[in-house]
Amino acid sequence: MGERPMSRAEGVQEDGPTGAAPQAAGVPVHVGVIMDGNGRWATSRNLPRVEGHRRGVEALRRCVRAAREIGIRYLTIYSFSSENWSRPVSEISELMGLLKRFLRHDLAELHSANVKVRIIGERTSLSRDLCLMLDEAEALTRDNTGLTLVVAFNYGSRQEIASAAQRLAAEVAAGTLKLEDITIEALGGRLDTAGIPDPDLIIRTSGEQRLSNFLMWQAAYSEFVFLPIHWPEFDHAALLGAVQEYARRDRRFGGLTARTGS
Ligand code: IPE
Ligand code: IPE
Ligand code: MG
Repeated sequence: MGERPMSRAEGVQEDGPTGAAPQAAGVPVHVGVIMDGNGRWATSRNLPRVEGHRRGVEALRRCVRAAREIGIRYLTIYSFSSENWSRPVSEISELMGLLKRFLRHDLAELHSANVKVRIIGERTSLSRDLCLMLDEAEALTRDNTGLTLVVAFNYGSRQEIASAAQRLAAEVAAGTLKLEDITIEALGGRLDTAGIPDPDLIIRTSGEQRLSNFLMWQAAYSEFVFLPIHWPEFDHAALLGAVQEYARRDRRFGGLTARTGS
């Protein structure tokens, strides 16, 4: 048997991030979700787009609950991309407001459910009150050991990678890092997702089949499931279906098929 990392879809048992119980067979450790289709869900019902975003928050609550029930350890949700600033100002402020309301209403419940909240993305262009709320969510839940909920807000993979490259360059210039120490691990450790395992499964709703600048580095060997439903329709059954599809996948990581051996 070679040294390839074995597929989690094969049912590899591994230690949890905090020494918790091993991951159940076939259950992805980390699921990324591109929550897409809010606007189309609303317009197809003659509702304003904003209503789709509001219903999207309810779908997010269902998704978090389902992820905990299924035993997923890390759930990363794409809630605002660095390119979403090109939308109308009214829609942007509604999305900012929804995140604030989500944190205000749901943080205590997430905390009592042992959920650890982590935010990734660029914070400097966000309002001060939103930044304070993001800091508070992370600080309050820092020591929780259940599901890690990673909120990608004002997030873009290209910017994340460029920022990591800047950090490495600054360290080389300062003499604290050698050029030859710029490795995959060194760069990965300077991304916003440092310390978080790569996503095993990425789900995108709405039928679109693209990453839209989401976790490009981290998704090198992720499995993808594209669902034809819009995000406001997402529920436990949708997540479970995607996880079951993932469990049927044969992850090879460049090696030979897991089923016939190397
Ligand atoms: C996803 O739904 C939410 C965000 C991108 C913030 P959309 O708003 O992209 O909905 P569609 O894709 O236009 O239907
Ligand atoms: C991706 O959806 C971003 C989020 C879900 C937050 P978009 O709706 O912005 O992506 P594109 O524009 O269709 O690629
Ligand atoms: Mg969209």
